[in-house]
Amino acid sequence: MNTSTILLRRCSRISVNCLWTFSKLRGVRKSNITSSRTTLQNSATVGCMHNVGRQFSSVAETDSRLPLCESSDKDAEDVVTKNFKVIKNFINEEEEKSMLKEAETYLKRLRYEYDHWDNAIHGYRETEKSRWNDTNKAVLQRVRDAAFEPGVPQLVLVHVLDLAKDGYIKPHVDSVKFCGSTVTGLSLLSSSIMRLANEKDPKQWVNILLEPRSLYIMTGQARYDFTHEILKQEESIFHGKVIPRDRRISIMCRNEPT
Ligand code: OGA
Ligand code: MN
Repeated sequence: MNTSTILLRRCSRISVNCLWTFSKLRGVRKSNITSSRTTLQNSATVGCMHNVGRQFSSVAETDSRLPLCESSDKDAEDVVTKNFKVIKNFINEEEEKSMLKEAETYLKRLRYEYDHWDNAIHGYRETEKSRWNDTNKAVLQRVRDAAFEPGVPQLVLVHVLDLAKDGYIKPHVDSVKFCGSTVTGLSLLSSSIMRLANEKDPKQWVNILLEPRSLYIMTGQARYDFTHEILKQEESIFHGKVIPRDRRISIMCRNEPT
């Protein structure tokens, strides 16, 4: 059972540094998770596409699935391809179910929140968890190994965010006070579109399709210079096709601020 409480602050694209306040963070800063990199099997690392252009896929994905990215322009695309990775099918359906089940034991007690005072996220409930069963612990270790270099101090608490079908996240940048250079997230249940937009010039944007069971790793400029958001149902259009939104859960790990 999760015993931690969270107090989250997110803000819009205007102010950069006030996104996150984990009330428990102070007590858990000194985690020292050392990990070795594992080889990812059965997963495709997919780069970005500029509109309907090229796909930089390192693994053959020959089905007719949509490419995972579309962008306003080459510059935005370049930043994202260097600093944002999506690994398709990072977990299998069984692992997804297992993560879901454990997250659900706590989430189900909470109400979805709308029009919260912080106003950056709508239709959501969330928690942070440090204790997971052995199966899920192994999954999370794979996530951490994929996202963080060995020896990088990581936040022990794993952030679980449950977005309702009509939930969405507005553009924001995670607080540099409470979160380091890398944010990684597993997506469960439904596809969604994450939009990154240049903080200084929001006309520069990249849309990224986050499919269930995929892992994204956002780092460097994509994390610091671009806002990120999860598009609401009405805006969930990708390469001209509607991507139906449903309930979506993300399981996020972060490293410590430097
Ligand atoms: C956040 C956030 C993205 C996601 O909670 O700060 O940006 O994948 N979440 O749910
Ligand atoms: Mn965020």
